[in-house]
Amino acid sequence: MKKILVIHGPNLQLLGQRAPSIYGTADLTAINRDLKAVAAKHKVRLDIVQSNHEGEIVDRIGKAKRTHDALLINPAAYTHTSVAIRDAIEAAGLLAVEVHLSNIYAREPFRHQSLIAPVCKGQVSGFGPTSYRLGLEAVATLLAPVHAAKARPSVRVRHRAA
Ligand code: DQA
Repeated sequence: MKKILVIHGPNLQLLGQRAPSIYGTADLTAINRDLKAVAAKHKVRLDIVQSNHEGEIVDRIGKAKRTHDALLINPAAYTHTSVAIRDAIEAAGLLAVEVHLSNIYAREPFRHQSLIAPVCKGQVSGFGPTSYRLGLEAVATLLAPVHAAKARPSVRVRHRAA
């Protein structure tokens, strides 16, 4: 079973109370519950962490290189500042998808740049909790063809030999 590490960055533990007009009313528990349902549908395993500390996020990504197949990350405010998280994702070489609840390009100019996006496969921004769901759908879909490509030839070889 493919393993995906979900990382929620700083202040996302406050979802539901923090600026609901921007981030919505769903809290992190509800978002994680949704993600688990998507993961069950795709038969992938999720590990979910939230951290307010840049170094801890860097450490998690470094370890994920050996333990996980992909990353789904909302780097929150570190999106716009963290060369360290960007470098960690690049060094891990894992498939990564960046998500944001709000549309960062429709907000203050300092949020328009993501240092993380260039080392990710793609970004989903602006759909509230649906951004997470779509991001996980993308990760699971991108992981799946690898399974299929590996499985198909061995099935064919066995069939021919029989
Ligand atoms: C955010 C957008 C960031 O600019 C902000 O600092 C956050 C949340 C989002 O999900 O919309 O904390 O990543």
